[in-house]
Amino acid sequence: MKLSITHLSPHGALLAAALLTVAGTTQAADKPTLKEAYKDHFYVGVAINRTIATSTSVRADNVNRSLEQVRGDTAVVLQHFNQIAPENDLKWQLIHPRAGADGYDFGPADAFVNFGISNNLYIIGHTLVWHGQTPGWVFAGTNPAPSTANAGAPATPGATAGGTNAPGRRRGGPAGPLASREELLARMREHIHTVVGRYKGKIKSWDVVNEAIADGGTNVLRNSPWLQIIGPDFIAKAFEYAHEADPDAILRYNDYGLENPAKRRKLITLIKSLQEQKVPVMAIGSQTHVSVSSPTFDGIDRTLTELASLGLPIHITELDVNSAQGGQRNTGADITQNAATTQGGLVDDANRRLADQYANLFRAFIKHKNSVKMVTLWGVNDAVSWRADGRPLLFDGNNQPKPALDAVIRVASGEGQANAR
Ligand code: GLA
Repeated sequence: MKLSITHLSPHGALLAAALLTVAGTTQAADKPTLKEAYKDHFYVGVAINRTIATSTSVRADNVNRSLEQVRGDTAVVLQHFNQIAPENDLKWQLIHPRAGADGYDFGPADAFVNFGISNNLYIIGHTLVWHGQTPGWVFAGTNPAPSTANAGAPATPGATAGGTNAPGRRRGGPAGPLASREELLARMREHIHTVVGRYKGKIKSWDVVNEAIADGGTNVLRNSPWLQIIGPDFIAKAFEYAHEADPDAILRYNDYGLENPAKRRKLITLIKSLQEQKVPVMAIGSQTHVSVSSPTFDGIDRTLTELASLGLPIHITELDVNSAQGGQRNTGADITQNAATTQGGLVDDANRRLADQYANLFRAFIKHKNSVKMVTLWGVNDAVSWRADGRPLLFDGNNQPKPALDAVIRVASGEGQANAR
């Protein structure tokens, strides 16, 4: 991907200046912002919630911000970042909650895209096919749900599904009768064509499939309703449909826990299989929800070296660093266990350890800048983060820069020595 760093439009610059006055953020005038510091390396982006996209204090995305706070959040976005991702509003549950002709709610997603265009930001679409935040009707149909036959996901991705409807044992899947393979493929295609088509040329890069890989065990693929109903080629089909809908969009496969060698091996197996089948997967999205204690610099370095062997750009898609004591185990835990990982209070010396770990991460990203083309923080500040209790971001809940921001900016100029614990 060609890196062309964008600048604020005159309108955006005025807005940013006004918002900065309101918000009173304390970025020193002589220090570069994040996007300035990294302009020769990669995009630096942020996930934004509905309050920011709509400039309102609506209670959304589990966020409760006053209008003044939203203005402060927006000022940080415009000051430091040149790329945005939607935290929730393009997920199936939000944009396409109902079946049928009146099934879509485009308003918040349109606001997100318009926010990006008016401020000249590179816009990401997240996400088209995922087992999470997908309404039950998508998987429902008239086929009786089989009980125990064909349990588990195949160890090898890429094979076509055995039958027209071989869902097997359903863990965490929808209750009641299921759609057939053909019905679910038709729904997937319609959804992808409608959503990708609506924002064609505006959303530049899509997370086409999110989190399809199994944690633990030997199966490559997660035993999701997509796998159960369609079979392993649901991934290839999703990429083909997205490519039909916008041939110019950069299509990503996105997953978490790639710092874990076993999960990373599965990802490499999956992507190689897709590449052999000429599936248009164009970038690897590595979520990078990590903690202050793990991974080490060497672990991040090894992760990026192995991912780069696939020959695709790497996008760090959901970066945050958990400082809660509950989040200091390994990176293999399913992130749906988030509540447990943010318990126990903060680790000792949390601000310094956060700064050290962010320095490690960005030092590794720069080392691999031939592959790493984008780094997206998963939220503007600690108050709006899904892991708020783990204080995982570069700004505190009042939009004040934390020592980690300074550490990241110093790494860009070659100053900050990362701590390779
Ligand atoms: C996953 C998803 C994100 C988000 C986080 C938790 O990483 O990809 O969209 O939901 O979980 O907030």
